[in-house]
Amino acid sequence: MKLAERMERLGTETAFSVLAKAKALEATGREIIHLEIGEPDFDTPSHIVEAGCRALREGHTHYTPTAGIPELRAAIAAEVARSREIAVDPAQVVVTPGGKPIMFFVILALIESGDEVLMPNPAFPIYESVVDFVGGTPVFVPLRQENEFRFDLDEFAASLSERTRMVILNSPANPTGGVLTPGDIAGLAEILRERPDVFVLSDEIYCRLLYDGSFASIASEPGMGPDGRTIILDGFSKTYAMTGWRLGYGVMPVALAEQVTKLQVNSNSCTSAATQYAGLEALAGPQDSVDLMLSEFRARRDLIVAGLNDLPGVECLTPQGAFYAFPRISGTGYRAGDLADLLLEEAGVACLAGTAFGRYGEGHMRFSYANSRENIGRALARIDELLSRGKAS
Ligand SMILES: Cc1ncc(COP(=O)(O)O)c(C=O)c1O
Repeated sequence: MKLAERMERLGTETAFSVLAKAKALEATGREIIHLEIGEPDFDTPSHIVEAGCRALREGHTHYTPTAGIPELRAAIAAEVARSREIAVDPAQVVVTPGGKPIMFFVILALIESGDEVLMPNPAFPIYESVVDFVGGTPVFVPLRQENEFRFDLDEFAASLSERTRMVILNSPANPTGGVLTPGDIAGLAEILRERPDVFVLSDEIYCRLLYDGSFASIASEPGMGPDGRTIILDGFSKTYAMTGWRLGYGVMPVALAEQVTKLQVNSNSCTSAATQYAGLEALAGPQDSVDLMLSEFRARRDLIVAGLNDLPGVECLTPQGAFYAFPRISGTGYRAGDLADLLLEEAGVACLAGTAFGRYGEGHMRFSYANSRENIGRALARIDELLSRGKAS
């Protein structure tokens, strides 16, 4: 088939291909422990499910305004204003099916051939994929274990060039669980204030999954709000265990929100109506399920980090946010990709090589601990057994 040339530049998200491989093994009767996919294993809280069902029963089965129902845009604006301590107008909010389309639409709307986009590496692979797709140039700023997977601010500043048009930030981060400190955020803002021509895409999808301290957003820094050149990406997938509902949003300058809305009307028209009503309840209703989920994630984090550090050749920092452990495995003698294959095929543990998130992920694995403590314990025992056998060659 002769495809458009641009399709050669589109990447993918390995988590979905490893999940498919693991499911295929399960279909042959193998038992696999899933530590590959980045989604809470909890069910969506029942009051949110009920709000979605009620919306359907009440006849919310039609198209909605492209940028989202006004009540939800207003509720999101109020929530983002409260949590980031900034002013937000509902006209700045675009509701999308998940947070991912915000990445796609914003990069499509702003990046031209030859534009450089600074991004962390390792990082969520879709940033690089979409920038490549539109003909932009990804410029990687490494995240290293030695620096708790935070940027080295001098290295960050030195990576900016005259061609830089956008910077992507992600804190708490996938795949490292690293968090930019308030000092890091202030330092980044200071650097970026010198460059008012640069947009900032701040992926804050894990902002409620933070184990210590309070969340710092670059959008709260003077001159860096979403009324100027920052785009906040956030959503409901992780915070409210709503991955399958597909509900996310971006908060951005009104002129950009209008263009993103135009991209949405050209692609998916709008976000599912019932899903948006469920989102309204998620924001307005009780938040105790978020706290309960976070405390369970903390217990699992402590379990997996201790277990990983007991394995031969493995060294794991304690992640400060999200639900991923990103241990260094170079001491095992395996390359990350080989170990991921072996763990799936021989130990029945599905996980991702650090290289699924970019070249600076070599020497690491990503384990999602969004699985029960029992399964995490069983996975650790299986990994231990495989590593204790030693490397064949
Ligand atoms: C860093 C990051 N951003 C955005 C997303 C997108 O989430 P969704 O489209 O489900 O809202 C994910 C999902 O894994 C993620 O890890």
